[in-house]
Amino acid sequence: MTRGGLGENLDGVLVVTDGKISWVGSETDLPSIPSAEEYDAEGAWLLPGLIDCHTHLVYAGCRAHEYEARLCGTTYQEICNAGGGILSTVQATREATEDELFQVSFPRLMDFVSQGVTTIDIKSGYGLTLESELKMMRVARRLGSDYTMDVKVGLLAAHTCPPEFTGRADDYIDYIINEILPVVAEQNLADYVDAFTETVGFTPEQTKKLFTAAQRYGLPVRLHADQLSNLEGASLAADFMALSADHVEFTSEESVAKMANAGTVAGLLPTAFYFLRETQLPPIEELRKHSVPMAVSTDCNPGTSPSTNLLLAMNMASTLFGLTPVESLLGVTINAAKALGIQDKVGSLEVGKQADLSLWKIDHPRDLVAKITAPRLKQSWKNGRLI
Ligand code: NIG
Ligand code: FE
Repeated sequence: MTRGGLGENLDGVLVVTDGKISWVGSETDLPSIPSAEEYDAEGAWLLPGLIDCHTHLVYAGCRAHEYEARLCGTTYQEICNAGGGILSTVQATREATEDELFQVSFPRLMDFVSQGVTTIDIKSGYGLTLESELKMMRVARRLGSDYTMDVKVGLLAAHTCPPEFTGRADDYIDYIINEILPVVAEQNLADYVDAFTETVGFTPEQTKKLFTAAQRYGLPVRLHADQLSNLEGASLAADFMALSADHVEFTSEESVAKMANAGTVAGLLPTAFYFLRETQLPPIEELRKHSVPMAVSTDCNPGTSPSTNLLLAMNMASTLFGLTPVESLLGVTINAAKALGIQDKVGSLEVGKQADLSLWKIDHPRDLVAKITAPRLKQSWKNGRLI
């Protein structure tokens, strides 16, 4: 780490061999490499390919009418309790065929590609039956490609209780554990298990039962925690050594300390905070004090964060939550990689990692955070190949 915590190098050279970074350093130290093909960045800034570690980008339908209703005074929780919210997207997503779901999701993925994003998380959670959850995860897997984007998939069947199980959330958790989880594990469709612990989601007890089952399949866990109230979700996540606890607006310092011990990343989702016009800020000072890594993501979803704009999320993390520009940049690179458990493969420009790179026509990396402009991406590379 040098100036500003980013390890800036003003005459840097990066060598790629077989899709991986094989050398990084200053031009003066560059060893001679016979028959190497050269690319002159012409003074542009080379950064790791960006990572969005929390999205729900596979979905059908639109929820703009709910935004309108919220502006007239209805709360998100009231909309959910009246059968709208997540359940309205569930209905549209169930009705879509697998191909239709792919077709509506692909342009959203391309929005991320155009911002230099080379790894993304996509969660299920708008199907809530075995077949429709599998459909969502197959679409998510299909969106991934060695040429553009690594997709990490989260099983979020515990997003909300589906209509078939109204009033029987415990039975639905058993259904996930007995009917969905074994098939997902067998077909290798998920990289981790996620849940929504909230008054409009599941109780900590139900979440624990699900996470215990996930561990039996060797699947790591992540959690939507403490977004709208403090149900001690982040503390529960830490008990299960979760990769990340996301949202964390209502998380207490005690839970933050537990996250630090467990190595759990705090996933900050400022666009959802903004779009829901929330007022409770996440405990940034406490996260800093306990050295909990902070990731920054779009939370791209149709209800609380209809955004594919990761650069805007970075700006919001700094403007609304007070992250320094360096913290916001780390939030979409190495800390996002940690939230996905792949920090040994991506997230920084280090020898041995995938050559996932983004090149920017900017004066300084802080410009990506400090300006709200269209992306100034010049080029990006996936596994060393030009996208
Ligand atoms: O991350 N918090 C729960 N899930 C999503 C919102 C989903 C929805 O409203 O459709 C989130 O904010
Ligand atoms: Fe989410």
